Amino acid sequence: MGVEQSAVNRQIRLAARPSGLPKPSDWSLVQEPVPAPGEGEFVVEVSHISLDPAMRGWMNAGASYITRLEVGEVMRAGCVGRVSASAHPAFAVGEHVYGTFGVQEHALSDGKGVVKVDPSLAPLPTYLGALGMTGLTAYFGMLDVGKVKAGETLVVSGAAGAVGSVAGQIGKLKGARVIGIAGGEKKCAWLTGELGFDAAIDYKAENVRKALRAHAPDGVDVFFDNVGGEILDAVLTRLARHARIVICGAVSQYNNTDPVRGPSNYMSLLVFRASMTGMVVFDYAGRYGEAMAELAGWMREGLIVSREDVVRGGVEDFHDTLLRLFEGANVGKLVLQVGG
Ligand SMILES: NC(=O)c1ccc[n+]([C@@H]2O[C@H](COP(=O)([O-])OP(=O)(O)OC[C@H]3O[C@@H](n4cnc5c(N)ncnc54)[C@H](OP(=O)(O)O)[C@@H]3O)[C@@H](O)[C@H]2O)c1
Repeated sequence: MGVEQSAVNRQIRLAARPSGLPKPSDWSLVQEPVPAPGEGEFVVEVSHISLDPAMRGWMNAGASYITRLEVGEVMRAGCVGRVSASAHPAFAVGEHVYGTFGVQEHALSDGKGVVKVDPSLAPLPTYLGALGMTGLTAYFGMLDVGKVKAGETLVVSGAAGAVGSVAGQIGKLKGARVIGIAGGEKKCAWLTGELGFDAAIDYKAENVRKALRAHAPDGVDVFFDNVGGEILDAVLTRLARHARIVICGAVSQYNNTDPVRGPSNYMSLLVFRASMTGMVVFDYAGRYGEAMAELAGWMREGLIVSREDVVRGGVEDFHDTLLRLFEGANVGKLVLQVGG
């Protein structure tokens, strides 16, 4: 069965609901014995933990698109790991898997929602990036909701992040003119230099509205928004007729202690006969397989690059690593590697 029963499982549990930016005291580091699998169960030794801005929302008390996390629970997280002990007929020791195993070193699973991943086809962190939830979000948001077409102008906010970088690259391979909005010169240089974006706007140094006027003189056909707030308002002033706005996220608002800032320029939707649609990747669960196969094909052909920003450490580094998302310190998919 593999794992010694005296081994310790270190976990990060939610200790308090944060107000504003999470603080170290909002978490507790708990040690438990590594679980033993019962009939139909297996244990995963977690090697890579996904850090997601949405984690901030899961910690809140209010209702959302997913069950809220209760104080005392292991912090929810998508992870990749290796099966270390198994009494499940479909999961063998040594296989690599993706699942919502949480911020802990070892997780017990009954296999629900778990998919096998193959480290010989792509590095394990990529299954949290372009071949993981963030890549799938970009895929369905761009193709099903944004319906980007050749010759259109696409703007992506949070463009150098996990979702944004893939969304922009999908726009490029569909023949759109792609403009990324990101924080900092280095991120913008990566977008235009390595990912082939047509233009990038550094929202920390430039006036986004003015820059859009220069880069999208005929207006914006599709806006893939990861950020919300002021950036959403700026893009709303530059829409083309029948524009589609994909509301993927609003990371600028997640740590607000004041109410979320709504789009004050929303009358542009009327003027430009535009639409604004929210999307949640989980609604596409039945199509993950086909999307992953297509994303993997694009990666093989060199049409899409998956960049992962891997921080090596332990589960105790979860808090500091999570904050990197809100500081904009990550480029591409932020992953905490705790083993492997
Ligand atoms: N709808 C869905 O199903 C779904 C699924 C997954 C993710 N999402 C959403 O997609 C978005 C991106 O997630 P991700 O995992 O790819 O994260 P990410 O973009 O890799 O990381 C977050 C980035 O957000 C930017 N940011 C942080 N605070 C900001 C602020 N105040 N104003 C502007 N930009 C700010 C930073 O980049 P800069 O340096 O450019 O500021 C940071 O690197 C999030 O809103 C997330 O909630 C939605």
